[in-house]
Amino acid sequence: MSVMTAADQRIPRTVADVLALPAAYADHRIHDAYAWLRANQPLGVAEIEGVDPFWVVTRHEDILEISRQNSLFHNGDRSPTIVSQAADRKVREMMGGSPHLLRTLIHMDEPDHLKYRLLTQAWFMPQNLKRLEDQIRVIARAAVAKMAAAADKDGRGRCDFVQEVALHYPLRVIMSIMGVPETDEARMLKLTQELFGASDPELARDGDTPVAEREFDFGVIIDFSNYFRALSEAKRAAPTEDLASLIANSKIDGQPISDLEAMSYYIIVATAGHDTTSSSTAGAMWALAQNPAELAKVKADPSLIPGLVDESIRWTTPVKTFMRTVTEDVRFAGRDFKAGDWLMLCYASGNRDEAVFEDPDSFRVDRKPNRHLAFGYGAHLCLGQHLAKMEMRILWEELLPRLSDLALAGVPAMSESAFVNGPKRLPISYKMS
Ligand code: HEM
Repeated sequence: MSVMTAADQRIPRTVADVLALPAAYADHRIHDAYAWLRANQPLGVAEIEGVDPFWVVTRHEDILEISRQNSLFHNGDRSPTIVSQAADRKVREMMGGSPHLLRTLIHMDEPDHLKYRLLTQAWFMPQNLKRLEDQIRVIARAAVAKMAAAADKDGRGRCDFVQEVALHYPLRVIMSIMGVPETDEARMLKLTQELFGASDPELARDGDTPVAEREFDFGVIIDFSNYFRALSEAKRAAPTEDLASLIANSKIDGQPISDLEAMSYYIIVATAGHDTTSSSTAGAMWALAQNPAELAKVKADPSLIPGLVDESIRWTTPVKTFMRTVTEDVRFAGRDFKAGDWLMLCYASGNRDEAVFEDPDSFRVDRKPNRHLAFGYGAHLCLGQHLAKMEMRILWEELLPRLSDLALAGVPAMSESAFVNGPKRLPISYKMS
């Protein structure tokens, strides 16, 4: 694609470089780049040193359309997340030519994708999740009690909301659903941070090695697999009602699923199941601390809590990007895509598209409609979206009636990643009744 790229399709180097720069996702540079692209080149080609060229999709409308056409735009033909050429080569060498270290739903296309999705889809539907509401509320109350316990006798407290609450609450929820004992949670949290935070020197397993070498830490995946293999064997021997038992005992076309596919399933549910929800919860707390009027609104009218949840997911958009691969030559939105071209869907850009959202850079708990696409769209639409929204709703239902005088008590920070990111430090002060 690089040789063929017409000059009018090429994104200026200064803008393109930002897209593959993990640090740019930790500040406003990425949003400035997206705003420029939406206005000037909503479907251009990024040519970045050390990365295969890719189309950059920044408009809400185009992201939806591409996500909807799953046979024209595949997930699994190339890496579904942005990778350097060096990392891609390394993975292909290790995996006998395949560009994937794992085989999760994200890496699959039809016909396999639907078969594997159907194994757990009903489990993730609201009717089934309803029975978990009480169990989740107990976990939410414990999180709120922790904030109250950190307060003095007048109810004034301080904490790093990410470290004390946001990281642990969704983790406890997903681990209890998976049947992972609480004593193993610290290990799960660390592995997830190492996997998603591989480009953040503070979160990566080996922060001193260059980013390109840290992109895919095979060691992290081996550690995850070893853990889940033991869990899976236990759930095969003695199945219970939990999700891990469902996965362990799944069959496709009458055959038990393979070790790689079972481990991949565990890893995606365990990791996607908490990091994204933690980030959205912390993103909301950050925005509320900066917008006391929005906090007052939702405190005065709890029926706005589902709106707060949706807005926090739009606002934070923890999954910044996924990639797709074009399966056949096609003309799309005035561009000629060739089979094999790689595309980056920029969800965080679609979620601030001024053609769809009024005043997109404002955090509004009563935004209506809120047609955000933080959960993606089409066949791969987030499987855990109802669970994520339910967990967040329950936490705010428990916390908001007791919370007041919220303010930032230091400098917050976002993690550095061009794939999944969110707040990694959020010092707040507050009053709890
Ligand atoms: C705020 C929280 C979350 C956000 C923003 C989020 C975002 C996403 C996105 C963008 C995708 C890809 C969609 C696409 O390609 O069209 C996805 C897929 C997925 N998510 Fe989530 N997610 C969240 C929470 C969760 C939770 C709690 C779980 C599980 C417990 C989960 C499990 C999955 C799975 C299994 C997939 C793959 C679905 C497929 O390929 O068919 N996610 N998510």
